[in-house]
Amino acid sequence: MQITSFKQYEEDFKKSVENPEQFWGEVAQNFQWRKPWFKVLSWNFEEPNIKWFEGAKLNITENCLDRHLEKRGDQPAIIWEPNNPEEESVTLTYKMLHERVCRFANVLKRNGAKKGDRICIYMPMVPELAIAVLACARIGAVHSVIFGGFSAKSIADRINDSQCKVVITADGAYRGSKQIPLKDVIDDALIGCPTVEKCIVLTHVRTPVSMLKGRDVWWEDEVKHVNDICEAEEMDAEDMLFILYTSGSTGKPKGVVHTCGGYMVYAGYTFANVFNYQPGEVYFCTADIGWITGHSYIVYGPLSQGATSVLFEGIPTYPTPSRFWDIVEKHQVNTLYTAPTAIRSLMSYGDEPLAEKDLSSIRVLGSVGEPINEEAWHWFDEKIGKGKAPIVDTWWQTETGGIMISPIATVTPTKPSFATLPLPGIQPILVDENGQEIVGNDVMGNLCIKFPWPGMLRTTYGDHERCKQTYFSTYPNLYFTGDGCLRDQDGYYRITGRVDDVLNVSGHRIGTAEVENAINMHAGVVESAVVGYPHDVKGQGIYAFVINPEMHGEAELTKKDILQTVTRVIGAIAKPDKILFVSGLPKTRSGKIMRRILRKIAEGDTSNLGDTSTLLDPAIVDEIIEATKALK
Ligand code: PRX
Repeated sequence: MQITSFKQYEEDFKKSVENPEQFWGEVAQNFQWRKPWFKVLSWNFEEPNIKWFEGAKLNITENCLDRHLEKRGDQPAIIWEPNNPEEESVTLTYKMLHERVCRFANVLKRNGAKKGDRICIYMPMVPELAIAVLACARIGAVHSVIFGGFSAKSIADRINDSQCKVVITADGAYRGSKQIPLKDVIDDALIGCPTVEKCIVLTHVRTPVSMLKGRDVWWEDEVKHVNDICEAEEMDAEDMLFILYTSGSTGKPKGVVHTCGGYMVYAGYTFANVFNYQPGEVYFCTADIGWITGHSYIVYGPLSQGATSVLFEGIPTYPTPSRFWDIVEKHQVNTLYTAPTAIRSLMSYGDEPLAEKDLSSIRVLGSVGEPINEEAWHWFDEKIGKGKAPIVDTWWQTETGGIMISPIATVTPTKPSFATLPLPGIQPILVDENGQEIVGNDVMGNLCIKFPWPGMLRTTYGDHERCKQTYFSTYPNLYFTGDGCLRDQDGYYRITGRVDDVLNVSGHRIGTAEVENAINMHAGVVESAVVGYPHDVKGQGIYAFVINPEMHGEAELTKKDILQTVTRVIGAIAKPDKILFVSGLPKTRSGKIMRRILRKIAEGDTSNLGDTSTLLDPAIVDEIIEATKALK
């Protein structure tokens, strides 16, 4: 299933378009199924209704664990690197990981969890997080992992949306020099979560926590009561594997649903190909398992291919900005997969943190989550890859389950800041505002996908209509990505960023409406409008225009309060970088905020604001521009 030449890529691509069922049927043969499918694909994008490998039975953990035991049972599956470099790292071989997953799967059963139940996981980046994820999959429970930076309210919303029965957490988490009280946050969240019956708590930072009788149990106690034999639950290919919440342009985050068979095939196939993974190599993805990148390319993709996956608890700059390079050297990392925001941040420290670091093990570099600017691309290429490691700029989304447009390492000629070409099985098209296909090269448009792929989302949890409206209604019979894109003269794709009201801050997806709702919860705030602006390190920063007549001159204090409100409602990742108090917002006569104007103002480009004649009060624009001058 591994592509080794550009010619083979072209042939596979052609085959995947001309005969998708045969193509994916053959790819799927590389995985272990309990029962084969009777139909590779049935689909329509109207409802939408998409089924891959219909009738097939499997358990993804048999593919990620059991099937490797004989050949590579003693090979490291996970190498854990702790936040504090003074602490020992931990290596779990496939045998050890299998044993621990089975044991914890029995803990889940002991606590009442069964096939189909939803389980919320809110944990630090420790091996037990991967174990918890796989243990859910082992018993057929549906995991919903929530990134450790989200607030109690965000957690409660997610738990209630999918009616989770069990929560798995830890006493706390380390993030650089900070400690995050995970269990306290969970306690606050669970006040409003009637469906949660049990909360399993891992000891990690050893901070005192309160344990609620009858509900809360310790991980360490529970594992003593069970053995490590746990037959994997037989799952249908289209049974739910997990839910992962992600932000859109409207409303609350939605629960993107991925299913067992198609997701497994797609995560495994793309991992093996994009990174050109070779047996025995050490692969390091710096993402958090709380995001899709961690699901697909720390856990399921690498483990399904018997790879060695590094799991890092900390942040790139702790205790020094050499941390990534220390890890590369220490564990002899062959593939480093990270985000442009981390690259830009590390770049800003100059060459000093790289001095005397041995990066010679690096063979492949990867980038994900946001557009990578040319400067960062070249720095990554020259300083980290020493001009010898291909960079795979991988474009994809929570909804796509796996990488969609990307070079294949050692196969596809790369070009700075281009995600290059679609992987086999992926049929991208660009459309104009009216949904007309834009053909030919050297063109720009909205990026859509016109044919299903195994890793695509099936629904949004509990609200199929929302899935249809969000992804399949803007342009009939197409999956709409929400991204703008150009296709250059060579047919190479470059993703230019979101065309909807979704921000990408440090590679984190944040809806402007969500941030506005959070700001509006602050007493005194009448209304707000949030837009993105270019930020040197984060890619995009958050700029909030806020009407707050009750401020009484204490602007700085009020700003602090607003930031706290946002942290409480969503989490620190959604805190605005800039807040500007204004007396009004540019609105049309029908009351719609003209974000286009605010975006221009936030970018500092007020020379051409376009047509402002339809505004209810054009004078407000000048007032806002004047006010921005006082803002640092
Ligand atoms: O705008 C695109 C951007 O990230 C969005 C998806 O975010 P999320 O679902 O959180 O998944 C991130 C990790 C896969 C996309 O709609 N994006 C992702 N990768 C790239 C990118 N933009 C440009 N280049 C990329 N390589």
